[in-house]
Amino acid sequence: MSKKPSIILLLALCATAVAGTPADAVQWSSYTVDHSQSIAGGLAYTTQVSLSSDALQEYGPSFQQLSVQVTPETAQRLHVRVTPVGQQRWEVPESLVPRPGAEASLSSEQLSYDVLDLAEGHPFALHVIRKADGANIFDTRGHRFLFKDQYIELTTALPADADVYGLGEFTNPKGLMLPRDGTKLALWARDISCANEYANLYGSHPFYIQTNADGSSHGVLLLNSNGMDVSANATALTFKVIGGLVDLYFFTGPTPEEVVRQYHAVIGRPALPPYWSLGLHQSKWGYSNLEYMQEVVANYSAAGLPLETIWSDIDYMHNRFRNAEFDPHRYPVHAMSSFVEGLNSKGQHWVPILDAGVAVSNGYSAYEEGGKDNIWIRDHSGEETFVGQVWPGPAVFPDYMSAPGVAPWLQKKIQRFHAQVPWSGLWLDMNEASNFCSGMNCKPDVAVASNMHWLDMQVPKDGNISVLYKMLSTCVMKCEQPEPSNSLAFPPYAIQNYKGPGQPREAPLSSNAISPTAMHADGSLEYDAHNLYGAAMAKSHYEAAVEVTRKRPFLVSRSTFPGAGRYTAHWTGDNAGNWENLFYSIAGVINSNIWGMPMVGADICGFIDATQDGDPWLNDNRLPDAEYEELCNRWAQAGAFYTFSRNHMGYPARHHEFYRWPSVAAAAGKAYGLRYQLLTYIYSSLFLAHSSGGTVLRPLFFTSPGDTAARHAQQQWMVGDGVLVSPVVTPGTVSISPYFTPGAWYSTWDYSRIHIEGDVGQAVQLDVPLGDIAVHYRGGTIVPLQQYAVVTRDVRVSPVTLVVALPSGTAAEDAAAGVVPPYAAEEFCRSSRQENADRLVACGVLFMDGEEDAPVVTSDNSLQAQFVTVAASDARSGSVTSRVIAAGGDAAAKLQIAAVHVLGVSSSSDAAHLAVRVNGVEVSANDVEFDGATGVLKVSGLQLAAGQSLELHWST
Ligand SMILES: *[C@@H]1O[C@H](CO)[C@@H](O)[C@H](O)[C@H]1NC(C)=O
Ligand SMILES: *[C@@H]1O[C@H](CO)[C@@H](O)[C@H](O)[C@H]1NC(C)=O
Ligand SMILES: *[C@@H]1O[C@H](CO)[C@@H](O)[C@H](O)[C@H]1NC(C)=O
Repeated sequence: MSKKPSIILLLALCATAVAGTPADAVQWSSYTVDHSQSIAGGLAYTTQVSLSSDALQEYGPSFQQLSVQVTPETAQRLHVRVTPVGQQRWEVPESLVPRPGAEASLSSEQLSYDVLDLAEGHPFALHVIRKADGANIFDTRGHRFLFKDQYIELTTALPADADVYGLGEFTNPKGLMLPRDGTKLALWARDISCANEYANLYGSHPFYIQTNADGSSHGVLLLNSNGMDVSANATALTFKVIGGLVDLYFFTGPTPEEVVRQYHAVIGRPALPPYWSLGLHQSKWGYSNLEYMQEVVANYSAAGLPLETIWSDIDYMHNRFRNAEFDPHRYPVHAMSSFVEGLNSKGQHWVPILDAGVAVSNGYSAYEEGGKDNIWIRDHSGEETFVGQVWPGPAVFPDYMSAPGVAPWLQKKIQRFHAQVPWSGLWLDMNEASNFCSGMNCKPDVAVASNMHWLDMQVPKDGNISVLYKMLSTCVMKCEQPEPSNSLAFPPYAIQNYKGPGQPREAPLSSNAISPTAMHADGSLEYDAHNLYGAAMAKSHYEAAVEVTRKRPFLVSRSTFPGAGRYTAHWTGDNAGNWENLFYSIAGVINSNIWGMPMVGADICGFIDATQDGDPWLNDNRLPDAEYEELCNRWAQAGAFYTFSRNHMGYPARHHEFYRWPSVAAAAGKAYGLRYQLLTYIYSSLFLAHSSGGTVLRPLFFTSPGDTAARHAQQQWMVGDGVLVSPVVTPGTVSISPYFTPGAWYSTWDYSRIHIEGDVGQAVQLDVPLGDIAVHYRGGTIVPLQQYAVVTRDVRVSPVTLVVALPSGTAAEDAAAGVVPPYAAEEFCRSSRQENADRLVACGVLFMDGEEDAPVVTSDNSLQAQFVTVAASDARSGSVTSRVIAAGGDAAAKLQIAAVHVLGVSSSSDAAHLAVRVNGVEVSANDVEFDGATGVLKVSGLQLAAGQSLELHWST
């Protein structure tokens, strides 16, 4: 009866050698392999396993039989699904994460992995290895494997000297690498300040990357939206999940960046944000009226700082904080509309907030229409609308995941809002979804009169509404509490849901959330779908925004799930204004990139003005004013190199717009001056992530994965392939020793070169007085640089200088040193390196489109060019050539290359014999400048259309 594909027979021999005998089975695996069956022709097969012994019966009985579907999907991607036989289980809907399936005509020789140990009669284990070296990708042998209705336990072995990262969302005080002390990290979307270490935060990303000692890396996704705990110790990593399926994807890399690209091919590649969204954003909860906001805009302008976008937090909202409705006194529609039109005419933008909850409020169209359209999440009985509380007070929650009427309802609401005041983007908040009440079927608690007077309270025009805000974040509703026996509210295994400092972990699932007993339109339970609320809200808003604006949407969502990056950018949430949180932001933005949301930033200078996560209303433990100014100075500079760069603060926080202090204004001016020159480079990097997957903000060690010291260089990050940022993140510091991986690095400020020889990196001491930040180009990259302007609209069309940062070693030497050279994942660059192994090779990319911000990028509406430099190994001569992939739209017509700067030209070069030819024509000596001491060659006076091919040669 067992009919196995030949691959299994082969592997079974291998398995016998390594696995224990069936008699050992009872000690670990609960299941034994029955038989395997291939699936119609391909490489996929199914194995059935049966329960041989049960454990942890206090969490319920284990399923008797499981079906294990093994599907090789690509040469680098394996999909394994484990489902109980004959049971319908919840799984992440295809509408949110469409599954890509297997590539056609894949042969077993192509696979970079093997699956072992599925031999009949053996204890069931998932054992996946990398073929090239036999290293384990995933190995559950020797560990418990349990699959119950509300408890799944799955453990894989981890080498002690491997590093693991990418799981979240949580704040890890140590940086990027997961703790290996067994700390249980919960995944259960929660509205809580990200200043809380190890707390389960806004998003849920059950994905990790493992980088082994030698740098080889692989990734694992457990595609499951249920609550879970994940923990790692010196030898193992364990998932404890309270529902759904074991739905695993393995990605074999082998570089960390390739793992990320392979991961994004499953969850969806990130949206490309509009160009303008790369400008500087200013926001505050507590801009109490329009006049105040106008002053902020004017003060930025007076300080000569490039404010691109002013944001409105909930302050703009009418009566009890109705989403998408303006307060008639503080933000009158007509005044708002002319204010925003004025901003737009100057190239500036306005972005308002939308909260997840919709105010229960008569006369509020979004509420009344939603009731008619039947789109609210319902109480478990299915009869009553689920009511909770968020800023609007009593609130209902749209079922973005499955209510059929939700799309037209949202489009109408968004359309009306945009017709009133033309917002440029939308900020999606409180979408965990946050609920200030816990329990079911909540009703306003009219018995408590003091809690109710806000229902009629008008917000004063001067806007001191702190009393109102504070009151509204306390539950004023009366909710039914579920019986202790309710297994949805109180599953047998309690995850480490974090409620706050000093409070016990294992808070109920309903804590600060929609009740897990609530129901969606398609019958799915909030228990299963809770972690998807933010992603579903983002998808719905993306689709509505495209319909309404016909432009590429700009959304920023707090809660996310794998795949949300196809629709939205992210910010790291409610951080605190202290040095620790500046440091935490680095791992925060890198993780978001790994999760497919490369457009990300932390609130610059901090949201909560406290050194610890105290009561944000009390601002206890604030930094002293002088130190706060220093923090904001350093944070302005670091934040200038987040992809999404926004200064934002909470209601009671000290004002920290950059212009508030001359020193901070100067520091911001310097850092944003460079950022704006790099906008097109950043945009091009985001385009690569959008089209091929991968990160933009990434750890330095991605350039040299085997360099374990580089993994501890956690106060730095790369922006794309070519720029390294090394900010100051500690007080009273004017000298730092950032780490540099092997090769050449050039200061962006003066082109001075750091050369790291050999195959390990080293720390290099740098002076960074207050107001300065260390930023370097990586040798081997070509960076398009433009000219600073106060709005991105003007930067976008300014002349381009190509900065060619020559590497210090040949392509072959780089390979021998184990470094991952820039643009290694891009075919054009890889092949240039292969063809020129004994030469110096540098690569770059330029992507640009026009102000129409078309929702879909095509070769008709964009300019796409690739640049390659090939130089002699002595760097005395070389060429810069471009290959134009697309030359569409007004960008191609407008953009010109005006100069080329080559860094790292041999200092033995003789300036007198220097010759530069561009497209066959000798460049006049007046336009060529060469400094033999620094090795910098500058060619200027060019007027080359960026949409046409370029060929520049230099020789000495
Ligand atoms: C690590 O975790 C695994 C799985 O929970 C456990 O079996 C093992 O004993 C732990 N090892 C250490 C050193 O704590
Ligand atoms: C703007 O600047 C003026 C002049 O310095 C100052 O009086 C005012 O308080 C500032 N307002 C804001 C909102 O920054
Ligand atoms: C606003 O009012 C609260 C209490 O009513 C008071 O404590 C606070 O100082 C006021 N804030 C400002 C900025 O005036």
